[in-house]
Amino acid sequence: MAKLWGGRFQKSTDQKVDDFNSSIRFDARMYRQDIRGSIAHAQMLGRQGIIPQEDAEQIVEGLNGILADIEAGKVAFEIDAEDIHMNIEKILIERIGEAGKRLHTGRSRNDQVALDLRMYLMDEIAEIDGMLKDTLEALLSLAEKHTETVMPGYTHLQKAQPVTFAHHLMAYFEMFRRDRGRLADCRKRMDSMPLGSGALAGTTYPLDREFVAEQLGFSGITRNSLDGVSDRDFVIELASCLSMVMMHLSRFSEELILWSSHEFAFVEMDDAYSTGSSIMPQKKNPDVAELIRGKTGRVYGHLMGLLTTMKGIPLAYNKDMQEDKEPIFDAVDTVKLCLPVFREMLLTMTVKKERMLKGAKGGFTNATDLADYLVKKGLPFREAHAVVGRMVFYAIEHEKDLDAFSMEEFAKFSDIIAEDIYDAISMETCVNGRNLPGGPAKEAVEKAIAEGKAYLSR
Ligand code: ARG
Repeated sequence: MAKLWGGRFQKSTDQKVDDFNSSIRFDARMYRQDIRGSIAHAQMLGRQGIIPQEDAEQIVEGLNGILADIEAGKVAFEIDAEDIHMNIEKILIERIGEAGKRLHTGRSRNDQVALDLRMYLMDEIAEIDGMLKDTLEALLSLAEKHTETVMPGYTHLQKAQPVTFAHHLMAYFEMFRRDRGRLADCRKRMDSMPLGSGALAGTTYPLDREFVAEQLGFSGITRNSLDGVSDRDFVIELASCLSMVMMHLSRFSEELILWSSHEFAFVEMDDAYSTGSSIMPQKKNPDVAELIRGKTGRVYGHLMGLLTTMKGIPLAYNKDMQEDKEPIFDAVDTVKLCLPVFREMLLTMTVKKERMLKGAKGGFTNATDLADYLVKKGLPFREAHAVVGRMVFYAIEHEKDLDAFSMEEFAKFSDIIAEDIYDAISMETCVNGRNLPGGPAKEAVEKAIAEGKAYLSR
């Protein structure tokens, strides 16, 4: 088949090369952005008198027709036309003839693909941001219900000090909130319009780059033509932001998997969000959480792949860069697949408050508070630490919790412990005494939730 660039060739490309070279299988998804970009470019060419105004109008009309037909499923793209850019241009020329041949004036596929990808990814960022916002809302609504649900907090996966489930949820709120900030920041650098960079060295036509940028909703234009066509930092930055989103989802998933085990039994996934075993009748597996954890690996892989693809490419455009699309598209798709299912899984799971409380009570999570009690009665902290250490050793030997000691038992270790000790080391006191900003106390978490709500309504 005749190529749009066939002029200087005597022979047509081998079919295998056409298949190999073609990106239409995966870049067809940018058709909307490609058409939007071409419309702005054509309008600018007409306004600047670079092509006749009637031709510009015909092009715009033709492109709108193609857009409608693609959306209606009436257009079949061709492998031989290589990519979405040449497929659409070719269809345009078939439909409107002569005028269509003027569209590519002052433009290269190199700046065209840079434009399309930026626009496409900015649209995706908006969608992902919406999903992150939904996730944050879900976390808040769940946290509101659990400001008094005491659970053990861990370090080294060893019980450390009691917290509440709400406080734990609000830790993830912070992570996903930062993810939104990172995406917004990444978007800022993506928001530069590259058309006018040409193949690499700009163009001699008097293009109005600012007009095109404005038409397409960009805040500005790229500042260097070589960079304009060879920069894929925005792709890598996005892959990095998405990797971070996945890392957060994966950490939470890992906790939910752990908590679903018989050993923890802090939560139980809804039947609709778990699966069974083909052989073991008793099984209920947290597959959804596991798959999210598993999919994190592929997103990280895409980040590493993109960095590696870009690391040895001389300026400016090289065909290697066509390899940017599949990984970033898959990273975007994966995050968009995981976020909503994660949210629903959270909202439908059962939280087993009694098990969490029991978990918090075991494992001497109030040992620090017992030491603090002694400090308040005048003992230096280091000494109090040692005294309580001996009490914990005794407690392990006698298989009892610290708050199950009798007054006689307390007296063996210290003569300054009084009846008020029981209240001082109850789970409730341990949690609610930690009332600094950012702490787990009910009051502090309620403030965090209120602040979170205010942030989401901005
Ligand atoms: N399909 C190509 C890509 O994705 C478009 C740019 C091609 N430019 C070129 N000079 N071959 O990168």
